Amino acid sequence: MSPIHLVLIGPPGVGKGTQAALLEERLGTRTLSSGVIFRQEIEAETDLGRLANSYIKRGELVPNGITIEMMAKRLRSDEVRRRGFVLDGFPRTLRQADALQELLAEMELHLDRVVSLEVDLEVVVARLAGRLGCTKCGEIYHAANKPPGREGLCDKCDTPLLMREDDRPETVRERLRVFKENTQPVVEFYEARGLLRRIDANQTPEAVYASITEGIV
Ligand code: AP5
Ligand code: MG
Repeated sequence: MSPIHLVLIGPPGVGKGTQAALLEERLGTRTLSSGVIFRQEIEAETDLGRLANSYIKRGELVPNGITIEMMAKRLRSDEVRRRGFVLDGFPRTLRQADALQELLAEMELHLDRVVSLEVDLEVVVARLAGRLGCTKCGEIYHAANKPPGREGLCDKCDTPLLMREDDRPETVRERLRVFKENTQPVVEFYEARGLLRRIDANQTPEAVYASITEGIV
């Protein structure tokens, strides 16, 4: 099978990270999640991490320039050429979408599909309220939908599970507003280019996965 090149777009808590992990596990594609990379930089206390955190903790977008540079560095790699990619959380603005088009043209790569994961607002709020994540391996859980085998501990690496700082209700509200304002136009950008597939994300993770991959694997 030739490597696939996919973008996942959707509001906070819709299940982008969950699907990106399934795609990586089953198809061997390289997941590049801008949110995960920022959180790794924050954890490592780098200058980029400190700068990014000042936006993330308020639910705002990290400025385009540094986000594009960070993602371009990772996309221009031999590993991405070999394994293909799933972009989770990038592009999130029209500036970022333009930059990605330019970069892919330079690399002579094409997107196979852009997936817009869509659910009602109350579903994402409930998903975020119950989310728990492993700070070491990144595995994503949910208190009701996907509880870990032992309470509060990662099934894969035994590390304590934590809630994300930006999952506080007031920050979630701001992230949802920012999504509507900045990222909804990106969905239309790809629709106009005939690349978009809208998927009802109010289904089980397996059903969502089947819709994402239908016709391309
Ligand atoms: P980021 O980390 O990308 O956060 P997000 O887009 O808000 O999305 P989430 O990670 O919260 O949700 P998700 O869709 O991945 O859902 P998940 O799979 O975890 O970004 C964080 C911040 O970084 C941004 O606010 C911004 O500040 C900054 N940033 C990142 N990218 C940027 C960019 N490009 N430009 C500028 N700034 C940027 O699932 C959620 C929960 O639901 C889990 O508990 C899961 O178990 C459960 N679940 C998943 N699927 C299902 C299902 N089908 N049924 C039931 N439960 C489910
Ligand atoms: Mg995520």
